[in-house]
Amino acid sequence: MRVKDRRLARDQKLPRAGPQAFENHYWQLFGARWPELRRALLLPARQVALRDGLLQPYYLDEASVAAADALPLTAGDRIVDFCAAPGGKSLALARRLPPGATLICNERSSARRARLHRVLDSHLAPQLRRRVSVSGHDATRWGLIQPSSCQRILLDVPCSSERHVITDATHLGRWSASRPRRLSIQAFALLASAIDALEGGGSLLYVTCALTPAENDQVIARALRKRAGQVEYQTPELPWGESTEYGIHVLPDAAEGRGPLYVCLLHKILP
Ligand SMILES: C[S@@+](CC[C@H](N)C(=O)[O-])C[C@H]1O[C@@H](n2cnc3c(N)ncnc32)[C@H](O)[C@@H]1O
Repeated sequence: MRVKDRRLARDQKLPRAGPQAFENHYWQLFGARWPELRRALLLPARQVALRDGLLQPYYLDEASVAAADALPLTAGDRIVDFCAAPGGKSLALARRLPPGATLICNERSSARRARLHRVLDSHLAPQLRRRVSVSGHDATRWGLIQPSSCQRILLDVPCSSERHVITDATHLGRWSASRPRRLSIQAFALLASAIDALEGGGSLLYVTCALTPAENDQVIARALRKRAGQVEYQTPELPWGESTEYGIHVLPDAAEGRGPLYVCLLHKILP
């Protein structure tokens, strides 16, 4: 919590952490919309079965499938899913892998990487599985170690996941405003690395399941400032969602339970 926020909380006797701090934070962000949005977050997530091109169905949010489909793929592309586990969006990409293209699914956590392996092995036919590899790098360093090395990146960053927090008493009890702030710093480090890892003419899809602008538009705004002249943004076309300054935000109260999901498409300008 910043000094200013701490002083404000102390003066108004507001809790700094826990369920009431969470409530106050999202009331401030969404105002009169919050009660309805809150109610929608507490309902079971609306999932669909991803089946086409897979050996067995994989269940995930329909908005996640639409988001992964918004990344343009072309023949021969080197595609990297920077933060891939458990692998839902990797499967969504793999099922539309164009001829000659390869997909690298990267995940830093070894436990989550093991799960990613199981998901890929049990859903992809051997011919397709051979074109999909798994790596375990810290993706914040990819751009430094392999600059301009890939044509497409899916960057689904670790984020506030309010839908998860609000339904989990332990997470809610530990919540404080420092959580979205810390995650937005991590998201920017991943995004800057992804931009550096992208070849000129390549595309990058930035995705979060966060409600907070700090982890969505504000991360994109910072990247556009820090990498000025290197990237331009495009609002992807999704069947649901609300346009924000740089992307599209699917919120469950307005999208029949889909989301939350924020998506922005970035294109690297040719040098
Ligand atoms: C939102 S989840 C990804 C969900 C996944 N895209 C899917 O659709 O199933 C973010 C993942 O990023 C991983 N991660 C966090 N920091 C990372 C880093 N620096 N490098 C690589 N992976 C990271 C986390 O362990 C987590 O599994």
